[in-house]
Amino acid sequence: MIPVLGNETSADQLYIQMQDMLGDVVPDFELKIKAELAAEINRLKVEKNAVILGHNYMEPALFHSIPDYVGDSLDLARRAATTDKDIIVFCGVRFMAETAKILNPSRTVLLPSAKAGCSLAAAITAADVRELKQKFPGVPVVTYVNTYADVKAESDVCCTSSNAAAVVESLDSDTVIFLPDEYLAKNVARETGRHIIFPTKDPRNGSGTELDYQMIGWPGRCEVHEKFTLDDIANIRKQFPDVVILAHPECSPEVVAACDYSGSTNAMIKYVEQTKAPRYLLLTECSMGENIAAANPEKEMLRLCSVRCPHMNQITLEDTLASLQKNQYVIEIPEDILYRAARAVEKMVALG
Ligand code: 13P
Ligand code: SF4
Repeated sequence: MIPVLGNETSADQLYIQMQDMLGDVVPDFELKIKAELAAEINRLKVEKNAVILGHNYMEPALFHSIPDYVGDSLDLARRAATTDKDIIVFCGVRFMAETAKILNPSRTVLLPSAKAGCSLAAAITAADVRELKQKFPGVPVVTYVNTYADVKAESDVCCTSSNAAAVVESLDSDTVIFLPDEYLAKNVARETGRHIIFPTKDPRNGSGTELDYQMIGWPGRCEVHEKFTLDDIANIRKQFPDVVILAHPECSPEVVAACDYSGSTNAMIKYVEQTKAPRYLLLTECSMGENIAAANPEKEMLRLCSVRCPHMNQITLEDTLASLQKNQYVIEIPEDILYRAARAVEKMVALG
C-alpha cells in the first residue's frame, strides 16, 4: 500500500521527500509552503496525542505528508475503532468522521472543514428509512456507510464499497433494502444475482409489495461518479487502445460493465500495484490517480483532473492545522442515535 511519512520529519526533510514524490505535479514554491504546514501539523499532532486518518481522495501534498494511516472508508473505520490516541483528525468527509466517532465514542473526533459533506449522505433522511421500513415490514436494511448517523441508526447493518456484496449475502434473507446509492445497489444486485426495484422512482412500484423483487433501492447518487459515461470510455479506448480502466462501484452499472476492473478505492490501488499494464485510468475522484502515480512512478496513469469531489476538496493542510490548533470541528452525535448506529456499524466491521 501507499507509504506514510514519520511524524518526526522536519520541514526541510518533508520538502525533500515531497519533492521526490510530487515534484512533477506540484510547483516547487507551493511544495515548500506545504512542507512547512505539514511539519507544524505533525508537531502538533504529537503534542496533542492525535492520530490523522487520510482518505485516498485527499489532495497529493496532504495525502503524502501528514496522515498516520491512509486508506478507503472501511480501512479507516477500522483504524478509528482501534486507536488509543485522544484525538482523531479525519481528513475525509463528515460521514467518515461520524463513523469514527460511532466506533470510538470516547475520543475527540475532528473534521477539518464543516463543509465536507457528500451527495449520497444528503440524499436520504432517517424519516425516509422509517417510511421504507413501514412499507416493507421485516425486510433488513443495509445502509451504505456514506450516510449520516441518524440514517445508520435506522439500519440493521452498514457496508462500504469493499464489502457491500458480502454484507448483503451474509443476511439470512431473500430480500433486502439497500440504501441510498442507486448505482452501488444495482452493481451489488448484479453481483449477487438479485432483481432490484426502486419504489420511490417508479410509481408503478409504489405500493407494489407483491412485485417480484429481492432488493429495494433508493435514488441517491454520487455527484462525482455519476458523471462518467459509456461515451467517455469509448473515447478513451479509441485514443489509448492499451489502457486498463478501473471504476469505483458508485459508477453506473453500464460504466462498470465496460471497465476492466471495479472495486473500492483500496482495491483499485492494489490492482494497479499488482498488475502490469501499459497505462491505467481510474474512473473516480481525480486526486487518487495523482496519489497512485506519486507512489508508483513506474506506472503510467492517465490524468483526469476535471472530476474532483467538491467535499473532499474542502480538506486542506491549512484547515487541518487550524483544526488541531482550535480543536475544530468537533463531531457530536446524540447518545441514543450513536448507540443505535453503533450496532449497524460494528456489525459491518465484524463482517470484514
Ligand atoms: P471507498 O470506501 O472505496 O474509499 O469510497 C468512499 C467514497 O466516498 C467513494 O466516493
Ligand atoms: Fe460522496 Fe461522491 Fe464525494 Fe465520495 S466522491 S464523498 S460518494 S460525493
